[in-house]
Amino acid sequence: MNHPLVKTLLLAATLGAALPATAASAGAPDDGAVAGDAARGRKVFFQCRTCHYPEKAYGNHNGPNLYAIFGRKAGTREGYAYYSETMKNAGFVWTPQLLDFWLANPKTFLPDSTMVVFATTPQERADLIAYLQQFHD
Ligand code: HEC
Repeated sequence: MNHPLVKTLLLAATLGAALPATAASAGAPDDGAVAGDAARGRKVFFQCRTCHYPEKAYGNHNGPNLYAIFGRKAGTREGYAYYSETMKNAGFVWTPQLLDFWLANPKTFLPDSTMVVFATTPQERADLIAYLQQFHD
């Protein structure tokens, strides 16, 4: 959790503030610059679906269930027994910005997570996030 941008992102998430230019250039969504499309995101999510269900009713898979992931504390999905120490101790609440940041920078942000992150474009990440945002109460 020592990446220099992480504190900024967490702070921005807490304050609801616009992300600074440095974070945007590192691949975080520059609010509105890349608009997500949930229908496209559903297709991008096919690759994640080998390990994750976003539907509440389906429970955990190889990875934790991602229902209502935004707003949930990392590493705390009920009934999921295989979290890495890194994820269990991450201590932050997932936001779209942090998921985008992780998927864009897996070597520097949560590098010891056991999840293998495959490469995505900023557009694919925005689409994925729009898709995942549909799953909440
Ligand atoms: C090969 C299996 C696999 C694939 C594919 C995969 N994940 Fe994961 N994912 C995991 C595992 C395992 C964890 C738990 C990681 C840990 O504890 O370090 C995880 C954790 C997560 C978390 C944190 C959940 C929490 O409860 O804090 C999110 C968010 C996530 N994955 C999103 C995605 C997205 C989005 C994709 C597609 C781009 C994806 N994952 C693809 C296995 C996978």
